Amino acid sequence: MRENMVISVSNQKGGVGKTTTVLNLGTALGLSGKKILLIDNDPQGNLTAALGYIPAEQKRTLANLILTAIDYPEDLALHIERVVLHTESGLGLIPANRRLADAAARLQVMQLSQYNAVGDAERCCERVMGEVVSALRDLYDYIIIDCGLKHELLTVNALAASDYCIIPVQSHFLASEGVPEVLDMVRSVKARFNPKLEIAGILLTMYQSRPQLCRSVQETVRELYDGEYHVFDRPIEYSIKVAESPAVGQSILEYAPKCPASESYRSLAQEVLRLG
Ligand SMILES: Nc1ncnc2c1ncn2[C@@H]1O[C@H](COP(=O)(O)OP(=O)(O)OP(=O)(O)O)[C@@H](O)[C@H]1O
Ligand SMILES: [Mg+2]
Repeated sequence: MRENMVISVSNQKGGVGKTTTVLNLGTALGLSGKKILLIDNDPQGNLTAALGYIPAEQKRTLANLILTAIDYPEDLALHIERVVLHTESGLGLIPANRRLADAAARLQVMQLSQYNAVGDAERCCERVMGEVVSALRDLYDYIIIDCGLKHELLTVNALAASDYCIIPVQSHFLASEGVPEVLDMVRSVKARFNPKLEIAGILLTMYQSRPQLCRSVQETVRELYDGEYHVFDRPIEYSIKVAESPAVGQSILEYAPKCPASESYRSLAQEVLRLG
């Protein structure tokens, strides 16, 4: 079994359970004895907030690491030690806030100079997060990256730094809308920057055995993708407790360990532990 694994959780569609999955998968893997680092790669800072931190108050964030990797790569190791927060439940967290949008803008400037072959054109703007992750990889069993929606270069960077991608899909009408886009992005990143990148699977979220709609979405997703891509065995059940738990800075596994959604995140963690 391979360890030191990097997993991005991504879907171009909003509100499908990406952040919730990073938090709860990370917690479930942590409870099974693994050393976990979560990276908030979204300027909204939702993962940071869900773990009980106020994003705007964080002085050291992923943005600092991206900018250090660009401007002072020799100082990266020193900065990393200062940026990682240690949560009450024993997870490492690289937090984020709005300043990540500035770092994304800086990556875009790099991209322009790559296209125009001027300035620091020899540096590849898609691999900056990979440099950050490389400096951390040996310290953790699993690094899980929460991707946002807006800044495509941040997601491309996360995928370029990952071994696997998990794609959450809400069990709802038109739910699989964002999936072709994320599949295209994974294919493109795999071809251009990271040949080892694989899709770990599509994860149905917010699942209710009633109404019938959820079941038919599950069937549709399996018909469309199973075979070509893995669809995780157990969908994540809808539970109001999942939505409540970030308000107290906890995962669902701590807030309501017996809730079916906790069981489904434990099941997901077991599948992730079997990835090799
Ligand atoms: N299994 C679930 N049961 C009930 N509510 C859920 C469940 N999963 C997620 N939610 C709620 O749905 C909302 C969206 O979830 P989340 O923030 O994880 O999505 P996201 O894909 O990260 O969104 P964004 O695109 O804004 O980053 C949140 O309020 C979350 O608490
Ligand atoms: Mg999110």
